[in-house]
Amino acid sequence: MTTTHMQHTPRFAWAITGSGHGLVESIDMAATLLPHVDLFLSRAAEEVLPLYKIELAQLKARFRVFRDNSASAVPVGMLYDENRYHTVVVAPATSNTVAKCALGISDTLPTNMFAQAGKLGIPGIVFACDTQPVVVTMSPLDWVELRPRRIELDNVERLKRIDHCRVVCSLDELRAALAARIGEIDVTCCAGA
Ligand SMILES: Cc1cc2nc3c(=O)[nH]c(=O)nc-3n(C[C@H](O)[C@H](O)[C@H](O)COP(=O)(O)O)c2cc1C
Repeated sequence: MTTTHMQHTPRFAWAITGSGHGLVESIDMAATLLPHVDLFLSRAAEEVLPLYKIELAQLKARFRVFRDNSASAVPVGMLYDENRYHTVVVAPATSNTVAKCALGISDTLPTNMFAQAGKLGIPGIVFACDTQPVVVTMSPLDWVELRPRRIELDNVERLKRIDHCRVVCSLDELRAALAARIGEIDVTCCAGA
């Protein structure tokens, strides 16, 4: 595939937030879409990544990475070029990002990508982590058991009602949603997803 072709093949925009839960697995799944995926990090993601032994430099060696270093989420402008991104994925999504997306708040790079994509009719897929009464997750030190509160569970339900948004609650569901999306669009590259 030529560089010119790659530039004109619409890609997945994959936003990563500061969730330890599902972090490593989500990045592995994003990598199956290479080279047709770019990463968009929240500031919290950038802090959390090294705690799970993933350095920004490592990510940059594999992916095109956009960081959250502007007030207006400048990279969002790329969504206006309809040939650039066909889908916005937020995975993993913190309960913070889920809440913001569900309420229409956009004040980080991932929440801006999600909101602007929705306004443009570009489908979003959100892997919400706090969806079960008990979530067993890997902290930087050990496995921990979390019990999401009613507010977190309610926000997931709210998010499901947002236009152009598909909420997935597990890595298997995320994999299936990506496969379904690839089936919908005319990309010939992503057989591994
Ligand atoms: C090591 C570590 C792991 C974290 N894991 C989670 C998580 O699994 N789920 C979550 O909702 N927040 C988690 N957080 C907290 C978020 O990073 C924090 O709420 C942050 O403000 C989220 O910002 P963002 O949604 O813009 O990425 C974690 C924080 C740290 C330091």
